[in-house]
Amino acid sequence: MTATAYPPELVKQTQRRRTFAIISHPDAGKTTLTEKLLLFGGAIQLAGTVKARKSARHATSDWMEVEKQRGISVSSSVMQFDYQDHTINLLDTPGHEDFSEDTYRVLTAVDAAVMVIDAAKGVEAQTIKLLDVCRLRNTPIITFVNKLDREVREPFELLQEIEDVLKIECAPVTWPVGMGKAFRGVYHLLDNRILRFTPGEERKSAAEIITDLDNPQLDILFPGEIGQVRDDVELIEGASNPFSLDDFLGGRQSPVFFGSGINNFGVQEILQALIDWAPPPQARDAGERMVAPAEPKFSGFVFKIQANMDPKHRDRIAFFRVCSGKYEPGMKTRHLRLAREFKIASALTFMANERVHMDAAYAGDIIGIHNHGQLQIGDTLTEGEALHFKGIPYFAPEMFRAARLRDPLKTKQLQKGLQELGEEGAIQVFEAVGGQMLLGAVGQLQFEVVAQRLKDEYKVDAIFEAADIHTARWLTFPDEATRRKFEKEQALRLGADVDGNPVYLASTRYNLQVTMEKWPDVGFHATREHG
Ligand code: G4P
Repeated sequence: MTATAYPPELVKQTQRRRTFAIISHPDAGKTTLTEKLLLFGGAIQLAGTVKARKSARHATSDWMEVEKQRGISVSSSVMQFDYQDHTINLLDTPGHEDFSEDTYRVLTAVDAAVMVIDAAKGVEAQTIKLLDVCRLRNTPIITFVNKLDREVREPFELLQEIEDVLKIECAPVTWPVGMGKAFRGVYHLLDNRILRFTPGEERKSAAEIITDLDNPQLDILFPGEIGQVRDDVELIEGASNPFSLDDFLGGRQSPVFFGSGINNFGVQEILQALIDWAPPPQARDAGERMVAPAEPKFSGFVFKIQANMDPKHRDRIAFFRVCSGKYEPGMKTRHLRLAREFKIASALTFMANERVHMDAAYAGDIIGIHNHGQLQIGDTLTEGEALHFKGIPYFAPEMFRAARLRDPLKTKQLQKGLQELGEEGAIQVFEAVGGQMLLGAVGQLQFEVVAQRLKDEYKVDAIFEAADIHTARWLTFPDEATRRKFEKEQALRLGADVDGNPVYLASTRYNLQVTMEKWPDVGFHATREHG
């Protein structure tokens, strides 16, 4: 089917969609920017709602006790709002590095990302990792350099650091006029106008915009700052890269905006860039073929499972990215992994602080599907065609614990709990020789969350003991004979993940290296794709 033959309604609906995530190192200002974007988008009326939602969740949800104690955001969610005739899906991501696996999966479901950089700190560790993940899919990145109302680093220095460390070309779109107490606003390089900054106030009227950098009014208003801006702009025009839409869409260049999230400043420009430049949903690789967003038949994949989002509904929600067609309530789909029909009785979307039932969803939208264990991360649903969307990674864990029960009569509950938490992606679960249950995590906090949830949700009191495992590798074999030989000789170090895939559990880095050298035909993989 050619593009012109797609149903016009689907073409229109997909073109007006933008699906993105905000990525940042903790404390750079992601929550604040999320809140301001929702305010500008009209999705919430009052500042403080997102933060309030964070604390309401803290107050009511017991398994998030860990989150409360540590003051971090563990779970991520989705919000949808309309802005300038576009439907925007904003996917929240946990910032703490221990939960980065979850974040990686969320990034497979977006078409663009907004990267928040703290202008005093520059590029931080978590930003580097997140950008590496975006790079896997060439996700276009918009950069927001935040906190210009503070004494921060020089803008040229920050851009240089982003380019050097993150290996992405920067194209400044706005440029700061002063900083800290002398932060006056930004100069918009493409529009040739100054947007004035008033601390703590939303920019409302055109009077706060001054056109033309040569305007003598600027010398009167900002005598201390404007000279520097003119010099900087001359330098930028001579030496820096002009914004290129193609390079942005290819993930090679990032347009950079300066601002102060907490003061509502620079936020509108980010929304505008999302609408004007960020891509609508694109064709996606479903293994068998590429699937275009406006194709008439519905398809998509699960990228995240979350339990107990709302303590009033003790359920698990599968977050599903629609890749083509249209979702309608009650629709019957094909569940490819289980090879059977799956009815989506009702799907949810998430406004800032409530769940809303959806009447329709199109490519780019994220729907929440109630789930009693049938859906796993990586599952594809279609209207019948055999498709398997790709690219949702599992990463080999680097921390292991063996689960042991205080009450041996609870073995069944422990197995059930770990199986479900494993499917959900809260932790990785492996079964080692002799049926021993091993937990693998990317970060220490995951163990604490799992221990808490086992106790609250499954009434299981388990102890996690140190396990003599350095890392895990997923195995692939060239043929059956090699597989059998390997299984026999390496039986003690073999295990299986929750989906039954064979895994090598290496005791040390050296042990892994020696085994790999001994078995050159066997594949040892540090990542695995779901599905
Ligand atoms: P995160 O989600 O990336 O972790 O960051 P968050 O938005 O929670 O912001 C981290 C801290 O930085 C918060 O301060 C927030 O108020 C502050 N912040 C965000 N944007 C700006 C900005 O543009 N300028 C300045 N000066 N600060 C900003 P906090 O003291 O940790 O929390 P709170 O008590 O203000 O809520």
